[in-house]
Amino acid sequence: MTDIDNAPLRIALGSSLPEPDESIARMITSGRNSLAFFLGDEACRYRLLAESINWDRILIARRDCSTLGYAAFKHHRRGPFSPGVRPFLREFGWWRGVLRYLLFAITEGREWYYGFYLYGLHVIKHARHQGIASSLLAATFDQARQAGYDRVELEVQVKNVRAQRLYAHMGFTRIRTTPVNWLGRLLPFPAVINMRRSMTPQP
Ligand SMILES: CC(C)(COP(=O)(O)OP(=O)(O)OC[C@H]1O[C@@H](n2cnc3c(N)ncnc32)[C@H](O)[C@@H]1OP(=O)(O)O)[C@@H](O)C(=O)NCCC(=O)NCCS
Repeated sequence: MTDIDNAPLRIALGSSLPEPDESIARMITSGRNSLAFFLGDEACRYRLLAESINWDRILIARRDCSTLGYAAFKHHRRGPFSPGVRPFLREFGWWRGVLRYLLFAITEGREWYYGFYLYGLHVIKHARHQGIASSLLAATFDQARQAGYDRVELEVQVKNVRAQRLYAHMGFTRIRTTPVNWLGRLLPFPAVINMRRSMTPQP
């Protein structure tokens, strides 16, 4: 066990850090892997999204100066990313850039009906099974309560059994399975399970 492992876990909003560094931005933009077929690989997603991170929608877990994971969330139609079309044009050229930007806007807009939505959750490999994701989720619940929401909702891929188990332990219940939506008939979007957790104490 190293000194870092013994250091207390700190969870803070990205907007409260003096200056979130490039490695944190890289971790956050590496999410959305299921959209890689039109957003490109991790390096490409970094180029597309890093300039437009909304740090007030991201909780970061750190020990000492090491970043171990994050939870990203969305409410009031504002999530962790608000990219303009420009980086897409720069990356893919005019037509392909506009098309991919529109697809991104549709996938983001598709979440409009959620109130408080857990957009992403990630813990780096060597720090897993120490309760870091559970702590990030508890801090996310605090954010939801402070923003006035009485529930948190999420989508998790059907094949991601480990994450489903964690969510169940943290009080989420399964609402439905969305096998393939209208967009998924045209494009390779994964089937997801919709889960919800109430923020009010259960009887
Ligand atoms: C899913 C993920 C976020 C979990 O992160 P984590 O920090 O390992 O999660 P936790 O440590 O809080 O909980 C994981 C398990 O460790 C257990 N655990 C928690 N604290 C522990 C400790 N101190 N010692 C041993 N086990 C512990 C938990 O009970 C939980 O058990 P379970 O799998 O039976 O539910 C992580 O595996 C990950 O980043 N995966 C890739 C991205 C991903 O799938 N994200 C979800 C997208 S919807």
